[in-house]
Amino acid sequence: MKNEVIEKDIKKLSKEPNLKDYAATYKLFNWKAAYQHIDWFPKGKINAAHNAIDRNARGDRKSKVALFWEGSDGEKRKYTFLELMELSNKFANVLKTLGIERGDRVFFFLPRIPELYYGFLGTLKTGAIAGTLFAAFGEQALLDRLQNSAARILITNKDLKERVDKVKDKLPRLEKIILVDSDKNTDYVLSLTKLMEKAPEDYKVAHMDPSDPAFMLYTSGTTGKPKGVIHQHLAILHEHMSAKWVLDLREDDIYWCTADPGWVTGIAYEILGTWSNGAATLVYEGRFDPEKWYDLLQEYDVTVWYTAPTAVRLLMAAGNDLPEKYDLHQLRHICSVGEPLNPEGVKWGKKVFGIPFHDTWWQTETGGILIANYPCMDVKPGSMGKPIPGVVAAIVNDKGKVLPPNNEGNLAIKPGWPSMMQQIWRRPQKYESYFVGGWYISGDRALQDKDGYFWFIGRADDVIKTAGERVGPFEVESALIEHPSIVEAGVIGKPDPLRGEIIKAFVILKPGEKGSDKLLEDIQKYVKKHLAGYAYPREIEFVETLPKTRSGKIVRRFLKAQEMGLPIGDTSTLEE
Ligand code: WT7
Repeated sequence: MKNEVIEKDIKKLSKEPNLKDYAATYKLFNWKAAYQHIDWFPKGKINAAHNAIDRNARGDRKSKVALFWEGSDGEKRKYTFLELMELSNKFANVLKTLGIERGDRVFFFLPRIPELYYGFLGTLKTGAIAGTLFAAFGEQALLDRLQNSAARILITNKDLKERVDKVKDKLPRLEKIILVDSDKNTDYVLSLTKLMEKAPEDYKVAHMDPSDPAFMLYTSGTTGKPKGVIHQHLAILHEHMSAKWVLDLREDDIYWCTADPGWVTGIAYEILGTWSNGAATLVYEGRFDPEKWYDLLQEYDVTVWYTAPTAVRLLMAAGNDLPEKYDLHQLRHICSVGEPLNPEGVKWGKKVFGIPFHDTWWQTETGGILIANYPCMDVKPGSMGKPIPGVVAAIVNDKGKVLPPNNEGNLAIKPGWPSMMQQIWRRPQKYESYFVGGWYISGDRALQDKDGYFWFIGRADDVIKTAGERVGPFEVESALIEHPSIVEAGVIGKPDPLRGEIIKAFVILKPGEKGSDKLLEDIQKYVKKHLAGYAYPREIEFVETLPKTRSGKIVRRFLKAQEMGLPIGDTSTLEE
C-alpha cells in the first residue's frame, strides 16, 4: 500500500500552482524573508485582522466578495471586503465603548453566522483576545472555558444563552452578554443591533507586537480540564503562506472550508489565511447533508474545498451516483484535516472529482498546517505528506533523539514557526511540557519513509478523535460521574469505520441501580447537555469493576486493549 503513488504533472493541473517546486522552495525558504508577504505597521507592529481584511478593503479588492453566506434556513447574503472592514470596525468600536482593552478576553458562542466572523475580526482589531466556543457545548464546557479565561464579554444568541444562564452565577468576571438577536438593552444583556447602530465605521486598528496574543482556543489532553491555547498576531504569516501553498488559494477562488470557527481550522483557514490571500469564503451555517453539500459545491462554483475525513467517508457512503448528478467541474483542489484520511478516501476524490484529496496535518497548538500534500507533489495515499517550507519535522524517541526513516516514534517539530502556540493560558508548566530536547512533541506517533513522507500511526496518549473532534476522556468521565446513577467511569476511543473513533464508556453504577436501555439513553442525554453535543459515549457498557493502578488511576489503555481483543501489555502496575 505504501508504494502506491498518485503522480502529479504540474502542466496538467487546471491552474499552475502557487507552489511550483516543493523541494527547491523548501531548501531556500526562511520566515524572515517572507515577512514581505504580509502588511506591517511602522516599527515592526502588526495586526492579523488588518492583514485578513483591511489590507484588501483598502486596495483593489475593496468591492470583491469576501464572504458568501448561506443560513440553515436558506437565507443568502454576500459581504465585500469593504463591508467586512466596516462591520468589524463598528464591532471594535462597540467593544471600546464597553471598556474592552488590549489583552482582555472576548468570547463568541454562536453558530456560523456573519456576526461571528466580523465580531472575531473586530476583537482582534482592538488588541483584545478573541475566544470561540463551539455551538454544541454544554453547561460544563462553557463554564470551564469562560471561567478559566475570565472572559469579560460574551457574544451569543437567545437560544444558546439559556445554557450560559445555568452557569452565569459562577462567572463573576463576565460583565456583559451581547445578543445578536435581541433589540432589548438591560444592564447585563445588550443588543448587538442597538450597539452597532450607534458605532462609527472608522476604527484605528491596534498596532500589536508580533508576539501579542490574538485569539485563544480550548483543547483537550488526556487529563484535567481543557487548556487555553493562545495564538499570536504573527500567526497570520504562517496562515497566509500555508493557505497559499497548501490550499493553493488566490483571489479568484471560491473556497469552502467546512470547519467551524469554534475550532482552529475555522479560524486559521476560514477567516485569517483565506481572506489574507484575497479569496472568497463560503460559509454554510447548516449541518452535514450529502445532497446539500454537493448542491453548495455546484451552486457557488466552489474551486477549493477543505474538509474532514469523516465527511469524506460519509459522502463515500452516500454513493457515487449522487455526485454524478452535479456539475462540479470548477472544483480544482480538495484537502482534508483532523484525523487520518484513509487511502480509499484519497483515491475516491480522484475517481469522483478527478482530483485526489490532499491530506494535511496540524493541531490546535500549531495554529497552522505543518505537514501536507501539495498540488505540485506526488501523493502517496494514506500519507500526511511533507512539512511546509520553513517547518522542520522529525520522528524522535522519548528523549528527543531523531530516529532514522521507517521507525515509529513521536512526531516532533523544531520550534519557531510563526503560528506556534505562544502560551497555554495561565499554565506555563503545561506549556513547557510540550518541549523535549529542543523539539515540540505533538503527542502523535508517526513514521517518516525514505522519501520524506510522514505517515500517521496513532496518538501517544488517550486523547479521542471522534468525527475529527478532539475529546479528552477525562472530561467525559467527569461528566459521567456527575450523573446520579454512576459511581465510576472509564472512557476510551473505539475504532469506527465512519467516525474514525467513537467514544465508549465503561461505567460502574451505584449499588441497587440496574443497567437498562432507558438508563443508557438517559446517560447519553446527560453528557450531551452537560458537556457537548458531540462528546457523548455512543457505546456504554455497565461493568462491575474498572482496571486501576495501585494509586487508583483508571488504566484506559487496558480497557482499550480488552475492547479490541489485543494483548494487554504490562500489567505489573495494576491493582488487580
Ligand atoms: C490532532 C489535533 C488542526 C485541525 C484540526 C485538528 C489528529 C489532525 C491529522 C491527519 C491523522 C490527524 C492528530 C492531531 N490529526 N490531522 N492529517 N492525520 N491525524 O486539531 O483538534 O487540535 O487535533 O488531530 O491526532 O494531534 P486538533
